[in-house]
Amino acid sequence: MAYNIPQLPMGSNGKSIPLLGFGTAEYPLGNTENLKEIVLRAIELGYRHFDTAAVYQSEKPLGEAIAEALKLGLVKSRDDLFITSKLWCNDAHRERVVPALRNSLRNLQLEYLDLYLLHWPMTLRPEAEILPKEEDLLPFEMESVWEGMEECVKLGLAKCIGVCNFSCKKLDKLLATAKIPPAVDQVEMNPVWQQKKLREFCMEKGVHVSAYSPLGGRGTAWGSNRVMDCEVLHQIATARGKTIAQVCLRWAYEQGVSVIMKSFNYERMEQNLRIFDWSLSPEELQKISRIPQVRGCTLLGFISNKGPYKSIEEFWDGEI
Ligand SMILES: NC(=O)c1ccc[n+]([C@@H]2O[C@H](COP(=O)([O-])OP(=O)(O)OC[C@H]3O[C@@H](n4cnc5c(N)ncnc54)[C@H](OP(=O)(O)O)[C@@H]3O)[C@@H](O)[C@H]2O)c1
Repeated sequence: MAYNIPQLPMGSNGKSIPLLGFGTAEYPLGNTENLKEIVLRAIELGYRHFDTAAVYQSEKPLGEAIAEALKLGLVKSRDDLFITSKLWCNDAHRERVVPALRNSLRNLQLEYLDLYLLHWPMTLRPEAEILPKEEDLLPFEMESVWEGMEECVKLGLAKCIGVCNFSCKKLDKLLATAKIPPAVDQVEMNPVWQQKKLREFCMEKGVHVSAYSPLGGRGTAWGSNRVMDCEVLHQIATARGKTIAQVCLRWAYEQGVSVIMKSFNYERMEQNLRIFDWSLSPEELQKISRIPQVRGCTLLGFISNKGPYKSIEEFWDGEI
């Protein structure tokens, strides 16, 4: 059975984004052995939005799966899919943005992306490894990097552009100078890190929020067990005959954001789609709103006395 995932218009051109997306970042990164088959199964189940990034090393197998899905007729045309990829920090230099996107498109065997995101407000030396050394950390020139992103739209290589991991303060700064405003801010968001302030800010400014690590990213370097071990969520799930994952995904969906979850397990991929025919009660939402808040993603590799961000507080502009 194929599920029908609701969509919502976003960005200045009103393009629709499917509200439940399929993440492809497997930890450790690059562990994508069976990804082609997994994506084909996901498409059969009804997933249409796939989230990748240059740094995940999942673009190639995702591209192979898309080509195969089209050949098999699982989707009628490329336009039936919504594909997001991201610019890694060592390409966050004005002149490297378009070539980096062209490389992602080659990997994906696609002519265009639906959404191209700046992965972090961070610039690394081009030759930096994924885990950067102190000397790789460079000042982030937001305005010029964004010009590169805008060129991607002008060239028809990306329908929409956006950012990830931007605080309200950085978004505000970007909105003040951008000729094409960011359509999306993709950020960590789940019941244990609800992003209330950022969501209110984005709502006011017309920026769509996309939630990554909606289940807390258990088992990854950037996630923790805090969400899946949360007692309040456990109680709600048990009382409703749902899983904690379903409660988290339903909660995020009810906040009006799009959600990017990752599961490479067929049973859980299907389970996570069963969130659209029930709702949380006002009491349950109230209980979730009172869960103590802790940011999961600490990104210690980008913080250094020698780099542009000297502390986690500085990186998130005090919004922690
Ligand atoms: N923009 C950014 O900076 C950024 C950062 C992080 C992530 N992302 C994107 O967001 C996606 C999702 O985030 P994430 O991978 O951090 O975290 P997540 O979706 O919160 O959690 C993934 C983990 O939850 C497990 N899981 C999935 N469904 C489950 C269920 N029903 N019951 C129990 N466990 C379940 C998965 O295991 P199984 O696979 O074994 O099911 C996996 O270990 C990523 O893949 C990536 O595309 C973006």
